[in-house]
Amino acid sequence: MLFWNKKKTPEPLKEEIREPQEFNTFGLNDILHYIKREIGVDLFSKNSIIETKLRLFCEKRKIFSFRKLYEGVQHNSELRQALIDLVTVNETYFYREEEQLALAVDFALKISGTIKILCAPCASGEEVYSLAMMLQEKNRDTYSFSITGIDINSEAIEKAEKGIFSERSLHKLDQRVKDKFFTCTDKSFVARKEFFSSISFKKINIFDYDFLSLGKYDIIFSRNMLIYFDDEFRMKTIERFSKLLNPGGNLFLGHADIIPENIFFTKCNNNRLSYYIKN
Ligand SMILES: C[S@@+](CC[C@H](N)C(=O)[O-])C[C@H]1O[C@@H](n2cnc3c(N)ncnc32)[C@H](O)[C@@H]1O
Repeated sequence: MLFWNKKKTPEPLKEEIREPQEFNTFGLNDILHYIKREIGVDLFSKNSIIETKLRLFCEKRKIFSFRKLYEGVQHNSELRQALIDLVTVNETYFYREEEQLALAVDFALKISGTIKILCAPCASGEEVYSLAMMLQEKNRDTYSFSITGIDINSEAIEKAEKGIFSERSLHKLDQRVKDKFFTCTDKSFVARKEFFSSISFKKINIFDYDFLSLGKYDIIFSRNMLIYFDDEFRMKTIERFSKLLNPGGNLFLGHADIIPENIFFTKCNNNRLSYYIKN
């Protein structure tokens, strides 16, 4: 005789009811201090915009307080990099402030031997590509120069390495230059490798130890980064630049990048354009 175990039909699982977690904003100042200490970017004046941005960033990652975010970035390097990518502004385009690029190219053409240029920061690389293009437009071969672009933003550096740009980014280039240096595919412009064998990119923080081991340069471009720093960090930065420049090397800053009085550089003017010579 067979006995059937009469199985109990399982009760339907009660759905776990979760209260939406309340976000605790305590610790925002610690994050802002952390960002400033690590990369120099001073976000204190943009407190309310940055608070909203950071809160969304946290909630997306199920982090429910700024305090927890602060603790997280101390040991989680991916979280740290994502935070840096979030707070850095990577706006750039080809031939930005073209007259200043042309002035630097004029200086570069007077250098004997390989011309060494550093773009710190380069964001997604347009400044580096522009300088390489302008030097070649002046009949310099790719082996006569070397241009390094660095930036703290990992997404920007990835984009620079790929060399694929949007139409918007190339809006200042005329058709001849676009046709010469790029292949156009479905609204994207792909940099033609044969013209850019002498450029390279690296994700690096200018305040890291590694920055000072990048080598020596004849020209440094640092446009539109110092505006995000306070005077103390601007001073630290230009001291670092002076260490990387060869004697008599030139530093080019953006129009809005004002630097404090210092012993490292002498300011010079060329028509409406200014630049700095290493003392
Ligand atoms: C507005 S972009 C400037 C790009 C380009 N020089 C130009 O003027 O078109 C500013 C860049 O500075 C970078 N940056 C900010 N702090 C940095 C740091 N400590 N080290 C390296 N790059 C940094 C940001 O990631 C951002 O891409």
